[in-house]
Order: sequence, then C-alpha cells, then structure tokens
Amino acid sequence: MPLVDIRHMAAEAAAEAVGLGAFNVVLLEFAHAEVEAAESVNRPVILQLSQNAIKYHGGKIAPLGKALLALAEEASVPVAVHLDHADDVDLCRAAVDLGFNSVMYDGSHLPDDENRETTAKVVEFCHAANVAVEAELGEVGGKNGVHDPSARTDPDDAAQFVADTGVDLLAVAVGSSHAMTTRGAVLDTELISAIRDAVPVPLVLHGSSGVSDDGMVAAIAAGMTKINVSTYLNVGFTGIVREVLASDETLVDPRKYVGPGRDNVRQEVARLLNLYARR
Ligand code: G3H
Ligand code: ZN
Repeated sequence: MPLVDIRHMAAEAAAEAVGLGAFNVVLLEFAHAEVEAAESVNRPVILQLSQNAIKYHGGKIAPLGKALLALAEEASVPVAVHLDHADDVDLCRAAVDLGFNSVMYDGSHLPDDENRETTAKVVEFCHAANVAVEAELGEVGGKNGVHDPSARTDPDDAAQFVADTGVDLLAVAVGSSHAMTTRGAVLDTELISAIRDAVPVPLVLHGSSGVSDDGMVAAIAAGMTKINVSTYLNVGFTGIVREVLASDETLVDPRKYVGPGRDNVRQEVARLLNLYARR
C-alpha cells in the first residue's frame, strides 16, 4: 500500500493507548524482517534510516532509501519511512525529495534558541511537502547531553517547544539512553504522563533497547507512543550470526549466516509489536 502518514498512525496509537514500533534499518535485511514481522502480526510499522546508517552506506540516502520505499509500497500493513537523527538540514531535504514521509531533525546538541529556529525551518519545508517532523529539545543531562539517562524533559518547556516549532512528534528525555545492550533502564512514568498531558503531539521514546518489556508496557500506558528500537535488534542479529559462524568453519556464503540473523530480527520485531499493542 502507499506510505501511510506517521501523524495518523501516531494519533491512532495514542488514542488507543498502544505503542507504535519504529525500528532502525542498518542493513537491507533488517527492513525485510521488520516489514514481514509487521505483516505477520498485522500492525503498522515505521522503518527508520538514521544519518549514521546513511554515512555507513556510502553517505548516500538513495540506494537504501529507495529500497525502503519500495518495501513500504508492497507491504500489506501501514508503513512509514522515516529519517532518524539527522542534524544535517540538507539531508532532511534530500529525504523529503526522495519520498520519505517523516523526518527527525535532531538539534538537541545546539543552543536552545538555535535548535528551535532550525527545527521551525525544517518543519516549514517538510510540511510544504506533507512530510511529518519529529524533533527533540536540548538539555544538559550529563556527558551525553539530552541522551544521558539522567536528562529530563520539562513538561512546560516541551509544550513551548512544540508551539515554537510546529513539530508533529516530540522526543523526550525520561530515563532512557541510547545503545544499551542490557535492559536495566528505569523510566520516569510520572514524568511521561505529565509531559503527555502538557504536550499536544505524540511522544517518542529513544533508546528503547535498554527498557524491559514490563517497563515498556508501563511507559506506553503512561503516554509514550512512538517506540524507537535499534540496538536490541543488533544484539539478537549479531548473536545468531556469531553462533552460526562458530558452528561451521566451512561457511562462506553470507546468506547462510545473515539469513538466520534476519530471521531473529523478524521474530523479535513481531514480539515487540505485539507487546506494544498490549493494553
Ligand atoms: O533513534 C533510534 C533509537 O533511539 C534507538 O535507540 O539503539 O538504544 O534502541 P537504541
Ligand atoms: Zn534515537
């Protein structure tokens, strides 16, 4: 089916108090697995391509980006194709030109006024093309800035940021941290509810890999909507590839070990999508 507007997907999920799974694509195999998983559980899904992943793929958005768009077109469930963590405004424009229907402009590293100003500019050209925009407030929260587990978003500041910029979804700092390979992050569910009550757009959780299943169910019940997952899938994928390679030293065909890794991503995404839909 044609791409589905992430704003509609997120509004529907928020109204139903369920989560909307957004999974990063580091290799094409991940995108295949994520779409197949969504189809198997009949849930919408967001395919995310980050600026970092684009850098890995030769610095060009088109090759992998076009593949994601083609997979979305052929999917039997709603799919959105999203540019993740872009601090390069030109890359945001390139994603819009290519046909992505959602963009995260990440100006969280910028001084606050500059972040608001640049985010508003990105919103202007994205909305002119009917593309949704996710953004994030900057805040000092430790050595990793807004992505440090100690960082916290202030509800009133978040509401003002949305009013100043016109963003469609807002990433908030509530206790998660990027790239955790264990699931011990503790989220501030009271703060999630307070931000949800103060802010008129759906909320996005980054660094979801570090959150336990029970923690995620509680976060969604408290008001979190778009759930971004990357590292957790990488851990599963790499674990299986390592196992398969260790079991047979004669293997040389990448399909024989990447394929099982891809199957693991499919199983985990299906499991997580079911978990996020639990009420
Ligand atoms: O934007 C992507 C996510 O925030 C992924 O974070 O790798 O910690 O799951 P994660
Ligand atoms: Zn993130």
